[in-house]
Amino acid sequence: MDKDLRDARDEYLVRYGGDRLDQIFVRAKGAVVIDDEGREILDFTSGQMCATLGHNHPAIVGAIEEAGRQAYHLFSGMIPDVVAELGRKLAGWMPAPLKKSLFVNTGSESNEAALRMAKMYTGRHEVVALGGSWHGVTGGASSASFASDRKGYGPAMPGSYLIPEPYAYRCPIRHCRDACDTTCMKVGFEMFDMQTRGEGAAVVAEPILSAGGVLVPPEGYHASLREEARKRGMILIFDEAQTAFGRLGTKTAAEKYGAAPDIMSVSKTLGAGLPLAATVTTDAIEEDIAGKGYSHYTSHVADPLPARVGLAVLATLEAENLLDRAVTMGAGLRARLDALQQKYECIGDIRGEGMLLGIELVTDRESRAPDLALGAATTKRCLEMGLSMNIKRRPARGAVWRIAPPLTISEDNLNRGCDILDRALQACLDERAKAPA
Ligand SMILES: Cc1ncc(COP(=O)(O)O)c(C=O)c1O
Repeated sequence: MDKDLRDARDEYLVRYGGDRLDQIFVRAKGAVVIDDEGREILDFTSGQMCATLGHNHPAIVGAIEEAGRQAYHLFSGMIPDVVAELGRKLAGWMPAPLKKSLFVNTGSESNEAALRMAKMYTGRHEVVALGGSWHGVTGGASSASFASDRKGYGPAMPGSYLIPEPYAYRCPIRHCRDACDTTCMKVGFEMFDMQTRGEGAAVVAEPILSAGGVLVPPEGYHASLREEARKRGMILIFDEAQTAFGRLGTKTAAEKYGAAPDIMSVSKTLGAGLPLAATVTTDAIEEDIAGKGYSHYTSHVADPLPARVGLAVLATLEAENLLDRAVTMGAGLRARLDALQQKYECIGDIRGEGMLLGIELVTDRESRAPDLALGAATTKRCLEMGLSMNIKRRPARGAVWRIAPPLTISEDNLNRGCDILDRALQACLDERAKAPA
């Protein structure tokens, strides 16, 4: 254990929210991270839901080395060869008519850019987002994020609206149980119509709401969202930070659900662990806003190092057939989790697609009261047993593990992780049964 650096962490680092682990970490490889005691911990969340290829994939390491030899940063007015190449390559991963990309660094920034595009294109400023959404921490993105962390920062952007999310297991308008009939969306837009000042610019949505609890909308939802936006002269933005580039077994969620947005933001999985993000739109929108003077001129816009990484990520997804692997490994993972649900009453719901799954913990299946304490205790126990799990615990939104291992994880490691989860849950439930009432 590196006590000196653990002390330095406590002394010198700002706490930025979320659960911070006791140990510090020194290395990561494939589906494993290694702490300062040399312990190997299986990573069931691909870092911060980014490392779809696993940690330190040789193709990415090679791309970074090559950038070191060629160029890693340039004057923002100079378009690097690899950025032009990535633009063309990315267009092939997008549903038509999405084609033109702006390359930025983080998910927050890609949404910021998308919202700025929408505002300039429509000449309006109101933005509708879904309850439980998470689009980032910057001004515009955080104003459209409703999962958590809204308090204490002053006013949101003027014209920020929310419609209730399609959370079939815990319906926000107390209307459905287990099967969403999209009344939430209809009611949401009716309420928006009452409140709007007639300045609707965009509807922004994660095709599967991840931080909100891995919520998978019902069939037809995405197309209806697009229709409702259209009716109001608004454009549709999909935030595919987690759903693009293979995790669902398709290139994008838009492809999976057959509903193309007007703008798509992609981030986490495009750099597969390196800070690369993009905002992708149509020829028509790009032409319009360029004519109006659209600006997103930053220090790191179109940098060659992350672009080279992005090219390596897309090439590796293809070369290793990882989209198909997400489907087969995801089915295996789902089967293991379904078996756990048979065994444990506390697993109220399992949902998701491909290798993006959610497990919701409840005190009992009838009341569906969130078991926040069990979620915290089991997550801790998993870590002690060598498995890193990401849990979202909020009284209003339940206790939900987001399970998103690298698409390259071996079957052995996937099974080992599920075994650990099984044993950790059992141990925590046994402990609870023994505890004095
Ligand atoms: C769907 C979604 N959009 C945007 C973001 C923000 O991305 P970043 O943290 O890279 O700014 C996240 C991060 O968790 C996310 O899950």
